[in-house]
Amino acid sequence: MAALKAEEQNHLQLMEREEMDAEDDLFEAIEKLINQGINAGDVKKLQDAGIYTCNGLMMFTKKHLTGIKGLSEAKVDKICEAAEKIVNYGYITGSDALLKRKSVIRITTGSQALDELLGGGIETSAITEAFGEFRSGKTQLAHTLCVSTQLPTQMHGGNGKVAYIDTEGTFRPDRIVPIAERFGMDPGAVLDNIIYARAYTYEHQYNLLLGLAAKMSEEPYRLLIVDSVIALFRVDFTGRGELAERQQKLAQMLSRLIKIAEEFNVAVYMTNQVIADPGGGMFISDPKKPAGGHVLARAATIRLMFRKGKGEQRVCKVFDAPNLPEAEAVFQITSGGIADAKD
Ligand code: GTP
Ligand code: MG
Repeated sequence: MAALKAEEQNHLQLMEREEMDAEDDLFEAIEKLINQGINAGDVKKLQDAGIYTCNGLMMFTKKHLTGIKGLSEAKVDKICEAAEKIVNYGYITGSDALLKRKSVIRITTGSQALDELLGGGIETSAITEAFGEFRSGKTQLAHTLCVSTQLPTQMHGGNGKVAYIDTEGTFRPDRIVPIAERFGMDPGAVLDNIIYARAYTYEHQYNLLLGLAAKMSEEPYRLLIVDSVIALFRVDFTGRGELAERQQKLAQMLSRLIKIAEEFNVAVYMTNQVIADPGGGMFISDPKKPAGGHVLARAATIRLMFRKGKGEQRVCKVFDAPNLPEAEAVFQITSGGIADAKD
């Protein structure tokens, strides 16, 4: 990345080039279908439907694919057969699975204590959810990750670009400047490597996700932020009878997020709101739980609960993760972003 200062850049350039070569093997462009006898027009139809890689193709059902205008069942069969010659869609050995896990990168949060809690940082190919009360640091962590993702992997970064979907209008590009400076990076270059969109409806939010596949198949993205994932759903579905429909649309969007994470080896960081939990128990004075119900709970790989501590300190608790203990870390919000607590 061009964001790092000169001397460090020279030092790391060679290793980064090697990294990028390795990346090339991660996903196969959908155009490769042409070499397998699929005509370019049909490949274009897949791209128009948001499918840019052969790896991505297998994440759609045949029913979905035949729903694409101009693709008959026979054509879809031919396309799937051709794609299977390019990507292995079946079983792999445990050793290969381990190798695949090794392409997973952990991106630093800016706080060593928080990184340790997360087993090294936020993980690519997974969804990290942060929920918690207002001003607990969810958006500040998003801003810090915007910068740290661009660090080389040797410096606990992701050596990649960032996509930011903002549903609450709380992205502050001016906050990126001191955070970039803290990490010794050029703020202008860091800002250039972030693509940002403000979403106004849940449909808009979904369409923005669809548009990302094209960008991510062309350039190395390592982080997608959705802050917050649920706010627009709570605005757009207000009627009592609308909850089932809301959950169905939410599930659809979350499934899109999971696909992006896995297809492009991207870390998805999404924030969530908290709602009152009347069933939280009589010994908890102000019981709260994450919004989004089971649909959201199932989608997140790692769920983190944020709360305020004293002063600028914040506490993060692992709420639900398959391979992490339920523990806590204290961090601090500073002008340079998330950092370790001072005392
Ligand atoms: P909601 O979106 O309202 O639910 O909250 P959130 O969890 O996203 O909170 P956010 O990450 O926006 O954290 C806001 C907190 O960060 C506030 O307490 C601010 O005072 C603090 N903060 C923001 N910028 C700075 C800064 O430059 N320096 C310091 N020290 N604190 C900051
Ligand atoms: Mg926020």
